[in-house]
Amino acid sequence: MTTRSVTDRLGGLAFGGDYNPEQWDEPVWKEDDDLMRRARVNLATVGVFSWALLEPEEGRYDFAWLDAHLERLHANGVAVDLATPTASPPPWFTSAHPDALPVTPDGTRLTHGSRDTYCLAAPAYRDAARRIASALAERYGDHPAVALWHVHNEYVTLCWCDHTAAAFRRWLRRRHGSLDVLNEAWGTAFWSQRYTSWEQILPPRATQWHKNPGQALDFRRFWSDEVLAAYREQRDAIRAHSDRPVTTNLMLPAYQNLDLWALGREVDLVAVDHYPTAPGRDAAADTAFAADRARSLGGGRPWLLMEQGTNTVYDTDRVLGKEPGDILRHTLGHIARGSEGALFFQWRQSRAGAETWHSAMVPHAGPDSRVFHEVTAAGEAVARLRELAGSTVTAAVAVLHDSDAWWALEVDGLPSSELGCHAELRRAHRALWDAGVTVDFAHPEHELGAYRLVVAPALFLLSDAGAENLRRYVAGGGTLLVHHAAGYVDDRLHARLGGYPAAPLREALGVRVEEHRVVRRDERIVLSDGTHGVAWSESLRTEGAETLAVYTRGMLAGGPALTRHRFGDGRGWYLSTRLEDADYGALVVRLLTEAGVGRDVPGLPAGVEAVTRHASDGRRWHVLINHRDDTVPLPVPAHDLLADATAHTLPPGGCAVLRMP
Ligand code: GAL
Repeated sequence: MTTRSVTDRLGGLAFGGDYNPEQWDEPVWKEDDDLMRRARVNLATVGVFSWALLEPEEGRYDFAWLDAHLERLHANGVAVDLATPTASPPPWFTSAHPDALPVTPDGTRLTHGSRDTYCLAAPAYRDAARRIASALAERYGDHPAVALWHVHNEYVTLCWCDHTAAAFRRWLRRRHGSLDVLNEAWGTAFWSQRYTSWEQILPPRATQWHKNPGQALDFRRFWSDEVLAAYREQRDAIRAHSDRPVTTNLMLPAYQNLDLWALGREVDLVAVDHYPTAPGRDAAADTAFAADRARSLGGGRPWLLMEQGTNTVYDTDRVLGKEPGDILRHTLGHIARGSEGALFFQWRQSRAGAETWHSAMVPHAGPDSRVFHEVTAAGEAVARLRELAGSTVTAAVAVLHDSDAWWALEVDGLPSSELGCHAELRRAHRALWDAGVTVDFAHPEHELGAYRLVVAPALFLLSDAGAENLRRYVAGGGTLLVHHAAGYVDDRLHARLGGYPAAPLREALGVRVEEHRVVRRDERIVLSDGTHGVAWSESLRTEGAETLAVYTRGMLAGGPALTRHRFGDGRGWYLSTRLEDADYGALVVRLLTEAGVGRDVPGLPAGVEAVTRHASDGRRWHVLINHRDDTVPLPVPAHDLLADATAHTLPPGGCAVLRMP
């Protein structure tokens, strides 16, 4: 098992990025050494896409070039996060194993020429991946430069080929045991879908009209397990030769091809990539969302921001250019929420190839540039935060997040195309972020007793165990807010009969939902308390809950829209429509007040992000980021590690890390 943490080896927080020296030559490497020292780089991710160089033909390895780079980096004080190159099989591999190329749902087999062109379920690919991981670990397992192992890169590719079909069937046999159970789970009695042999079952490929929802959900679960198995194979091959921690980088927050909770349990350190897609405060809120999720996936353990951008990511619709100061603000946004440093993609901007126009720490313009100056300033700042290493972040509020619930809202034939997990999670998190409260994410079946407030924004699917857990949470004194369309289906996507949500949750909320009514896109509902809802409404009956707001128009007029139920020692709130953002924000503030949760750092105005990191010995630090346009006085002047001086105020856009007495 692992002996020392990454920060322990580095002697502080990590700063650096993906380093692909194979794109350059000797004079540039020399300059890299110099510039890395100037930027205070102490960790470089090496080898992510180097398979073709490391194994130029099947079974023949060439490590000499990598030996040289590792030696050079080590001599320069830069530790290595050594990657297995399996996200990018070389052309020789796909030429030899065309059956390992991925197939899309409509049956198109992709070809090489990009990256990520492999099927994870193809035996030839899995063997080749394990072999190269093993060969690397054997050679570099004890290398003094290596501080961390980086398996693969962003497991996001899915496949619908025949290998996948075979693996899916094996998985289904294990899960369901018999065809009768599977037929029952998938509701194949309808539309003449009954299976009479395992061989008839396919991955959910292109078909006419709705795909079977149970099949679609099981496929997502299967694929996630397949990915975990592939990850574990590489991880275990590495562990056979190395005691350094092992991880893989997740693409957060919008990709959801994995059961992220399960992956969080398999990695020694959660690592995530993050590229916000909006400017200004929205980017900061998105950063907080991704960072809170990364921390939560590891159960609160320290985690690592493996990639972020310094500026534009080739497609401006996707990722905007960063404003001056964003490099530091985003870096601290992650560190505030528990990241053990900040890494970028990539060190030096490519001059050719697929990512020529992706920003980097050293841009095409070279070191004499705004970006590199900001990078060096951020590197200096991170170096000053050494003492934060190993400290953690706690939260009094949790937002519930479940991969099954996410996937359940991606199947065909839903009651509304407006339902969806990611946007609802974002809205809930954003309202809490605006209120200055740090948020954990939790699974509906997790122990929730430590949270004063739990928000359940998108639990269309809720297992029996989850519903019972939420009931217990409220009975035990918790405050729970459940959003519309919750608990409509169980974990087989079977509708809950007799009224929604699932019975134990109904008990905690004191309501029974009888009917949903989708709200037209051009329509806005008015509630009796003056708030407005969109997208969704419900006809519900209270069964013990008090009604706080009613619908005012149409057939729902006079019916409850927002309710609160005193249940056991706690309170269960139910919101049966999607409130507009400002109204929702006000509701969240009301709930925080009722649950007795204040701003994390009292005395600061809205727009100043403030998170506390705690060390196990009682030391603590406030990380502050001012997203406002004015200078803000600090409630308690304290020593700012960034400025190495006492801070009394925070300028617009400014940051401070206060060591608290
Ligand atoms: C990540 C990927 C990197 C790079 C980056 C660009 O998803 O891991 O290799 O392509 O995106 O933003």
